[in-house]
Amino acid sequence: MTTPLLVDYERKHRHDVLSLLFYSRRTHTHLDWYKTGHWLDLQGNMIQLAYDGKGKLIGVLGLSAVLNEGCWLRLLAIAQGADIRHILTVLWQSLCPRFENAGVRTVAILVINNWLTAYLPLMDFRYIEDVVTMHRTGVDLPTAPTHPLLLRNGYSEDIADMMRVDHAAFPSPWQMTRADFFNSQRQAASCTLAEYKGRVVGYEVSTRHHTSGHLARLAVIPQLQGKRVGSVLLHNLLSKFNRRGVRSMTVNTQQSNIRSQRLYARYGFRRNGFDIPIWQWGV
Ligand SMILES: CC(C)(COP(=O)(O)OP(=O)(O)OC[C@H]1O[C@@H](n2cnc3c(N)ncnc32)[C@H](O)[C@@H]1OP(=O)(O)O)[C@@H](O)C(=O)NCCC(=O)NCCS
Repeated sequence: MTTPLLVDYERKHRHDVLSLLFYSRRTHTHLDWYKTGHWLDLQGNMIQLAYDGKGKLIGVLGLSAVLNEGCWLRLLAIAQGADIRHILTVLWQSLCPRFENAGVRTVAILVINNWLTAYLPLMDFRYIEDVVTMHRTGVDLPTAPTHPLLLRNGYSEDIADMMRVDHAAFPSPWQMTRADFFNSQRQAASCTLAEYKGRVVGYEVSTRHHTSGHLARLAVIPQLQGKRVGSVLLHNLLSKFNRRGVRSMTVNTQQSNIRSQRLYARYGFRRNGFDIPIWQWGV
């Protein structure tokens, strides 16, 4: 078995990577708010490439920038006909020695593509839990909750406040980077902040495609959780989307996040069976 030539990704490899992702059926892309070409250009990513002896790209493995000791395996592709087990192991083992210096303690992956499941144990990943999808249809809403909150649209100058809320509400690796917020606002149909006594205490970011909406993020600072801030943000979002003709909404949350599921259930969301496993390497 020949050892592939391993190189760090640079911009000159962009065409090779995009082409491999296009032609291979063994791919994994979980890029959230980014198109592939954009994600490849982000600062802080760790992207390793494997070339064969003839200069053909046969594998790519990309991790997101590290945030509070966690990162995501966001990009993976192995060329058609290549030895998946071998290429994957070589790519992964070439990155592992860098983790300590880079401050990486955990690497998570959302297993959107089933083919990967057989290979994750080779890289010492283990199953953590599922991300569940909840869905609601129609326009019915419960009685609006009352709360002395100021709701207003969020803009790029609010990103620092949104990050403060986000990083207090979510543990790693679920927190968003500044670049994630910037891009989420670019694509969002709704970005609302909840202010209490002049301070941002919660936010939501949601997307819309014709009559379908997706609640992408909802977070409240821990000190005010359980006091209906999340309900106020959700109620406001659903009313606004109802007026815009949205008749179907989805949201994802962790299976273990019972609090958020109770809130969504109160607003008519039901699990639709589209669950995605999360695996993780590290502690
Ligand atoms: C999920 C979240 C957005 C809900 O916002 P919230 O302001 O806490 O929610 P609400 O007060 O409107 O109530 C939501 C439900 O959770 C319950 N709840 C909220 N906080 C609670 C707490 N600290 N203890 C027990 N129950 C709690 C409420 O009682 C309510 O359930 P009910 O309608 O059956 O009474 C918020 O808890 C949060 O930011 N969590 C961390 C980030 C997260 O998980 N986001 C959602 C993932 S998609």
